[in-house]
Amino acid sequence: MKLVLGIESSCDETAAAVVEDGTKILSNCIASQIEIHRPFGGVVPELASREHLARITIVVNRALEEAGLSLSDIDGYAVTSGPGLIGSLLVGVCYAKSLAYVNAKPIVGVNHLEGHIYSVVFENPPIEYPALAMVVSGGHTSIYYIPVERRYELLGHTRDDAAGEAFDKTAKLLGLGYPGGPAIERLACRGKAERATLVYSIPQITDARYDFSFSGLKTAVLRYVSEHGLRPAAEAEEPSDEICDLAASFQQAVVRTLVSRMVKAARDYRPRTLILTGGVACNKMLRQTMLEAATKLGLPLYYPSPKLTTDNAAMIAAAGYGRLLCQEDDAMTLTASASLKLHTKSVSPGKGRFKLA
Ligand code: KG4
Ligand code: ZN
Repeated sequence: MKLVLGIESSCDETAAAVVEDGTKILSNCIASQIEIHRPFGGVVPELASREHLARITIVVNRALEEAGLSLSDIDGYAVTSGPGLIGSLLVGVCYAKSLAYVNAKPIVGVNHLEGHIYSVVFENPPIEYPALAMVVSGGHTSIYYIPVERRYELLGHTRDDAAGEAFDKTAKLLGLGYPGGPAIERLACRGKAERATLVYSIPQITDARYDFSFSGLKTAVLRYVSEHGLRPAAEAEEPSDEICDLAASFQQAVVRTLVSRMVKAARDYRPRTLILTGGVACNKMLRQTMLEAATKLGLPLYYPSPKLTTDNAAMIAAAGYGRLLCQEDDAMTLTASASLKLHTKSVSPGKGRFKLA
């Protein structure tokens, strides 16, 4: 097993990549649907699956071409089988299965979140286990304890909005367009958080110490907007200084929430590596603050470069490689699951294995 073709179509990116020996990217092609969904302020599932269908052959062919290979060179296939939008996932799964069947090669279904975790293998030293991984994306905000490779214990997840969803919804509220994360980050650089104090404190969910909740923060932004009479930015209009300050304050609150949970989990579980991944991990303030926290803890923090942080197929090929190598491939009955779980075990609160004090 050497060359793996990865396919990703769980949300609004049609992606294909060829990865050699699990860590060397030969090609990584992505057809983004952002422009199609932008007028709706979010991903429209039906449009997404139609677009995947229209693009998948083109994207797979481009990935092969850029790698200088043909289908007969590929040793195995890895495809995102969940979680995600069911119609979108099915396009990738059915396409990958047909390629595997016709070329008589093994195929493995990959959990999208495991893919995000593997996105750090290309540009960092090998992951030392146990590791602690935070996946922060448009649909997920979770912390996993990974005692050994490919075993995942869910320590905490969001009770309501995912971090990326909170960025997207807040951006919509402020008239900043879609996707919201990059828009808020851009304005936050111009604003001053201390000039827009949000009435908000990091929720402490007493029965689940690593869980998240972002709905209160969204309400705090809404209240701030109405109490200060802020007008959302109109299309093509440069947002006001007040909106920039609010963006900075919101970003700071999300970053503080995420970093505090990771630090708490790292103190309790004492991993050897910290991993930060998923679209929101593109955020520079989050990367920097998490890096400072990791340095204080004396732990290495791995995160991917921006192109590998958001959805891509190289991470899916990397995640599938190990299982293909061990011949743990899936049968042709492989199917998509919108709510596929990654963890083999949920850890009950207060059971940190190296709990201090
Ligand atoms: O991982 P991803 O590409 O797709 C999912 O699996 O959901 O993550 C997309 C999410 C969106 O919510 C987007 O607003 C957010 O990542 N995002 C960011 C930034 N870049 C993308 N959030 C904060 N700051 C950014 N720079
Ligand atoms: Zn993702």
